[in-house]
Amino acid sequence: MTKKLYIKTYGCQMNVYDSARMTDVLAPLGFVTSDRPEDADVIILNTCHIREKASEKVFSELGRLRSVKENRKTSPVILAVAGCVAQAEGNEILERAPYVDIVLGPQTYHRLPEMVARAAWTRVLETDFPPEPKFDHLPVPTTDGVTAFLAVQEGCDKFCTFCVVPYTRGAEYSRPVTAVLAEARRLVATGAKEITLLGQNVNAYHGTAPDEKSPWGLGRLLRVLAEIDGLHRVRFVTSHPRDVDDDLIAAFRDLPQLMPYLHLPVQAGSDRILAAMNRGHTAADYRRLVERLRRARPALALSGDFIVGFPDESEVDFADTLALVQDTGYAQAYSFKFSPRPGTPAAEAPHQVPEPVKAERLARLQEMLSAQQTLFNSVFVGREMPVLLDRRGTHSGQLAGRSPYMQAVTVTAPDSLLDQIVNLRIERVRPNSLEGTLVDSAGPEYGSCGCGGACHGAKGE
Ligand code: SAH
Ligand code: SF4
Ligand code: F3S
Repeated sequence: MTKKLYIKTYGCQMNVYDSARMTDVLAPLGFVTSDRPEDADVIILNTCHIREKASEKVFSELGRLRSVKENRKTSPVILAVAGCVAQAEGNEILERAPYVDIVLGPQTYHRLPEMVARAAWTRVLETDFPPEPKFDHLPVPTTDGVTAFLAVQEGCDKFCTFCVVPYTRGAEYSRPVTAVLAEARRLVATGAKEITLLGQNVNAYHGTAPDEKSPWGLGRLLRVLAEIDGLHRVRFVTSHPRDVDDDLIAAFRDLPQLMPYLHLPVQAGSDRILAAMNRGHTAADYRRLVERLRRARPALALSGDFIVGFPDESEVDFADTLALVQDTGYAQAYSFKFSPRPGTPAAEAPHQVPEPVKAERLARLQEMLSAQQTLFNSVFVGREMPVLLDRRGTHSGQLAGRSPYMQAVTVTAPDSLLDQIVNLRIERVRPNSLEGTLVDSAGPEYGSCGCGGACHGAKGE
């Protein structure tokens, strides 16, 4: 008998991936997904603990789901809280929300079927870090789209002083190369043309080699992934500046399938603050790294993450962040006010920055970042670029997709071009997307010219 599963996902792409894996693991029990909690037999909130606002959302959403559960008269509803808030505050959730049946941490998803069975008679808390890696016990995923995520690494040993991830996701673990390749081939065989490799520190990847000798880094892994027939685009998130090695830089130089776009968070531009954050590099190290990457791949665009108002951040420190942003030039970025997270060293640090100062700095930083983004996008007007049309647009007759730089692009185009990589001429920049027109719908698929994006799809290069 089919049963319905409703999953709501917060946080990073790893959580999006995990939600898909939880769906896979429950499918053999007859569960199909539903987008209405009111219909569901099992409801899962897959939560994020990264900032205060993120974890507060969980308790307000739980309040709403409580009434869904109480209003159901026909059959029981199992309510589960998964993800990073579950890991960090499992006991508190069980105490504060007695109607929650299951609390499960990110490393225990493979045991979900058994937990659902147990939830019929008892409340379940599973937040240990089991010795067996969950990946070995999850079904090999397929994709229902032309783009797919593939987790290659999980966890973090860096312990930046502001961050909960090392506590919620545990120690760094890299999946063996053969497992990653098998999953990638399966994704391509089921329709993926673009794969995004995921990891909390994806470029710390050091997976067991196929010959089980010395482990492979991310650069080497990318080289073999690029050999998979039918895989046109590869990306990876999130990288740490400290783990960008020569081999990864060379991969950007050599692999046209590797998209010319790198998310490389720096958090701050002041050496004093970077040291207090335990980032393990200076602003000058970051500048040098960006220079080397751009030398290897001139078309490379960067995105970043920033935190303003870290404890003891002065106006001078903040000016260093603005200067680094000014000099680096970002295509896109995320920026946040420092949020003190329970259990992290920075939450206890003296000289916390007052809220209005954080807000004012965030506004100034965002103004600069958004001007850079507008400038980056405007450069494409009148130029051609290859776009992977992965969905229908909001208007009829319209398709939408992503450029090599993750820009959303819309175009009036026939349905036959859905799931294809098509050259578009960019006509207009809108606030959240670019608008293009078809150039040559029968044109070569992106990557065939070998420039890897440097020509932005222009012919003859
Ligand atoms: N592994 C990635 C970051 C993962 S968290 C890295 O090392 O860069 C995603 C982003 O959330 C971080 O880059 C940081 O900018 C932000 N973040 C993490 N903890 C935060 C906190 N306590 N307050 C504000 N922003 C935070
Ligand atoms: Fe958090 Fe730092 Fe690890 Fe990134 S590298 S997940 S910011 S501790
Ligand atoms: Fe959030 Fe956990 Fe991801 S804290 S950002 S869901 S690793």
